[in-house]
Amino acid sequence: MCGIVGYTGDKNCVPILMNGLTSLAYRGYDSAGVAVWEGSELTLRKAKGKIDQLQELLEESPVGGKSGIGHTRWATHGEPSDINAHPHTDTRKTLAIVHNGIIENYLHIKSMLEKNGCVFLSQTDTEVVAQLLGYLYRGNPLSALTQAVAMLEGSFALAILFADDPATIYCTCKDSPMVVGHGDGESIVASDIPALLEYTRDVCFVQDRQIAVLRREGIQYYDEFGVEIEKKTTHIDWDVESAKKGNYEHFMMKEICEEPDAFKKTFDQYVSKDFTLKSDHFPWDEAKAKRFERISIVSCGTAYHAGMLGKKFIEHMANLRVDVDIASEFRYGDTLIKSGEPFMVISQSGETADTIAALRRAKELGCETMALCNVTGSTISREAEHVLYTYAGPEIAVAATKSYLTQIIVLYLCALDLAQKRGVMTQRQVSDRLEEMSRVPASMQKILDNKEQIQFFASRSFAVKHVFFIGRGMDYALAMEAALKLKEISYIHSEAYAAGELKHGTIALIEDGSLVVALATQPELQAKVASNMEEVRVRGAHVLALTNGPWEGAKGHSHEQWEIEKMDETLAPLCAIVPMQLLAYYLAVQKGCSVDQPRNLAKSVTVE
Ligand code: F6R
Repeated sequence: MCGIVGYTGDKNCVPILMNGLTSLAYRGYDSAGVAVWEGSELTLRKAKGKIDQLQELLEESPVGGKSGIGHTRWATHGEPSDINAHPHTDTRKTLAIVHNGIIENYLHIKSMLEKNGCVFLSQTDTEVVAQLLGYLYRGNPLSALTQAVAMLEGSFALAILFADDPATIYCTCKDSPMVVGHGDGESIVASDIPALLEYTRDVCFVQDRQIAVLRREGIQYYDEFGVEIEKKTTHIDWDVESAKKGNYEHFMMKEICEEPDAFKKTFDQYVSKDFTLKSDHFPWDEAKAKRFERISIVSCGTAYHAGMLGKKFIEHMANLRVDVDIASEFRYGDTLIKSGEPFMVISQSGETADTIAALRRAKELGCETMALCNVTGSTISREAEHVLYTYAGPEIAVAATKSYLTQIIVLYLCALDLAQKRGVMTQRQVSDRLEEMSRVPASMQKILDNKEQIQFFASRSFAVKHVFFIGRGMDYALAMEAALKLKEISYIHSEAYAAGELKHGTIALIEDGSLVVALATQPELQAKVASNMEEVRVRGAHVLALTNGPWEGAKGHSHEQWEIEKMDETLAPLCAIVPMQLLAYYLAVQKGCSVDQPRNLAKSVTVE
């Protein structure tokens, strides 16, 4: 959802800005642009459409210089167009600016500026910030910026190039991520880590209303009043290659194929070689775990689905009640949560606006907050009292795959740790389970090695109009994620249903040619799921069953059977998600969809 990159240093900034914008393209955008200091003035190049369009424009009318800012815009105020694309300038062209986020009081500021003679060219809230800064500027960029920031409401990450101080990039933000880093004779800013990885892995996250001033020699930081402050750097251990597509056609396939590895990395962080839990890695001791009466989990989208599965794990294994809510509902809803209760948010990016708001609300209510997060230094990881990291590495495809897997792994381990500390499971039982869990990546690898079976199925089924994922218990939670994955990247209508609930209404939608994917990995519930499969089969559905090891019973009630290697039923969802992600992937590819950047979607939803 919009991307910012800025560079100042010894090199020509244009290829660096374009490279940075390309690495941020996964966030979703509909226009792109750059502003470069060419030695005598700020030169802008902007184009509606993909980065290729901007590249073509730069080839027709080249620009070059040692400092510049770039942007990929996802339209919020005003249609996608060359004029509305960023960067924007003030009327006198004293500065150029790029912006992520939404300025909520822009109309108010705009009317004040119009009364003072400003003429606006675009429909964007960003141009209002450009004109405001130009209006306030009296030769001191830092002073103009602190005054402007005090007036802005809403969310913003801003990178600004002033014509009077062209080798410097000024940056600030509020409720929108911004990360800066200093390399060898160069400084760089971006809205997301992948754009920085080629230059440095020691980065600094700019916090609300702080200002970062980037020069080739280094970076200075100021608070909202313009007083210089010190900031610590965070080391990012993702490597450059992990944020690149390599030989894969799509990031999504690469990221699915990385799942066995992400599994092992996450598992090893929380589990010792002798298959005991590193119990001090969990934010509760025995006394606390015993005192808990419930845990609340709040998140969005795929991370919400991880929470739903986490609820099943924790309730089943640790005998502890879990309430799961969607962050956008929780933040404005009535809440019965009490002070001192454990409250967990789950977020891959750590920057989802609704999840951040939910976390802040829980803090106000006095809850003990914890976060499951994939990005070190992100807002959520900074603001939660305790952080349980997932070790998925950078996830570039919009559709979450390996991040979901690592979230459910950590939730599974939380369930085991709570079970042991609450005395529901013995250490021996936990160790046995962990030993079995350590074999799951090998089972996943077998699915990946035979993925052509799924590709073949997709090549026969891509014309399907409706897909229903059904399951009971843990399989139902898994079905929710399987259905989301399919709909978001293939645009095929899909629903997840608790198998026993179908006949209370939804079964009316089943017709000849509907595809029903029955998740049946839980042996105790298989007989029940078999009846549900039969109900839809006799009404014309094509039934695909996914089973935990061989299950003869599936044959009579389904047209196709896929199986994962037999494993403990609580572990099965950790493996069964892989064929579901592959199914979504191949159906989307068959339909010719833009797999890594589905329409209307952005990787990180940093606005409400
Ligand atoms: C779907 C997907 C989204 C995210 C959601 C929350 O594939 O990726 O549903 O899960 O936007 O994002 P994070 O986890 O970054 O808070």
